[in-house]
Amino acid sequence: MKTKITELFEIEHPIIQGGMHFVGFAELAAAVSNAGGLGIITGLTLGTPEKLAKEIARCREMTKKPFGVNLTFLPSLTPPDYPGLVKTIIDGGVKVVETAGRNPEQVLPALKAAGIKVIHKCTSVRHSLKAQSIGCDAVSVDGFECGGHPGEDDVPNFILLPRAAEELKIPFVASGGMADGRSLVAALALGAEGMNMGTRFIATKEAPVHQRVKEALVAASELDTRLIMRPLRNTERVLRNAAVDRLLEKEKALGANLQFSDIIEEVAGVYPKIMLEGEMEAGAWSCGMVAGLIHDIPTVKELIDRTMAEAESIICRRLTGLVGA
Ligand SMILES: Cc1cc2nc3c(=O)[nH]c(=O)nc-3n(C[C@H](O)[C@H](O)[C@H](O)COP(=O)(O)O)c2cc1C
Repeated sequence: MKTKITELFEIEHPIIQGGMHFVGFAELAAAVSNAGGLGIITGLTLGTPEKLAKEIARCREMTKKPFGVNLTFLPSLTPPDYPGLVKTIIDGGVKVVETAGRNPEQVLPALKAAGIKVIHKCTSVRHSLKAQSIGCDAVSVDGFECGGHPGEDDVPNFILLPRAAEELKIPFVASGGMADGRSLVAALALGAEGMNMGTRFIATKEAPVHQRVKEALVAASELDTRLIMRPLRNTERVLRNAAVDRLLEKEKALGANLQFSDIIEEVAGVYPKIMLEGEMEAGAWSCGMVAGLIHDIPTVKELIDRTMAEAESIICRRLTGLVGA
C-alpha cells in the first residue's frame, strides 16, 4: 500500500510503532521495521547519549530498513541531555524522529539540517497546526482512546481525525485505538495516511517485556483502563491494577490539594519493575482502550501481514462490493 506516509518514511506499509517507555528497545523497533513498518526506539528509556548510541547500533545490526527514535519532552527538574541525544541521533544516521510532549521547536533546526524527518505526536488539532507551522514533516494524531498521555481535551478519534484532515496540509497518522486492518481502513477513511500503534505492539513475541505484561493485555477488556493524574493536568491512560486503585483513592481524597509527591510511589520508577521484572502491581503503566481488541501474542510480522491483508480485503471486497451493489 502506498500513502504519503510510506513515501515520506520510505517504508512498505503505513504502520508506525510509537515510542514506548521500557518497551521500545532495538528488538521491537527492528522487528517492526523488518516487517515493513517503521519501528521506533524510545530515546529517554536509554537516557544518555552513550546508551542511545549503543541501542541505535544494536538496532542497525538487526535491520537494514529505516527506523526512528522517539524524543519525549517532559517537564523535569533535571532534564535529560537533549542536545546530546539529538547529536547521537544525527551521528547514528537515524532518518526519522518522533517527538512528543512539549513543542519540539528547540530540536528542529538541528534535525532538519541533518535531513531527518520529524513526526510530532499531538492530541489536538491546535497542537497539530502548531507542529505544521514550525516545520514538522508529519503528525501522529493521538485520540482520547490512546495509551499514555491523551491530553486534556478528551476528543476521540472519530472526531479528532476528520477535524485534523479538515485543517492540516502535512500528512498525519491515526494513533490511539489502532489494532488491525479494520483500524487501518477506518484511519484512511477519516483522512489519515496510516496508523501508529502502541499497546498492540506490546503483545507481540518480539516485544522485550515480561510475558506477564503481554498476558495482562490479552486478559484485559476495553473497560479496564483508567485515567490518572487528571488533577495535575498530566492525564495518563493506564491499565487498572491495585496501585492504580490506590492512586485514584488518593486523588479522590485530596481533590485540588493533590501534589505529585502524593502519588510518587505509584508512578515514579515503576516501568523497569513492570516491563522487565513482570511485577504487575508495582505501579501505573500506560495502556490503551485497544486492550479490548488484543486476543493473542503474534510475531510482529504476523501482526503486520495480517493487518495489511485484512485492510486490503476490506477495501477490495467489502467496500468495493457495497459500492457496486
Ligand atoms: C506502555 C506505553 C508506554 C509509552 N511511552 C511513551 C513514551 O515514552 N513517549 C511517547 O511519546 N509515547 C509513549 N506512549 C504512547 C505511544 O507511543 C502511542 O502514542 C500510544 O500508545 C497510541 O495509543 P494505543 O496504545 O491505543 O495504540 C506509550 C504507550 C504505552 C502503551
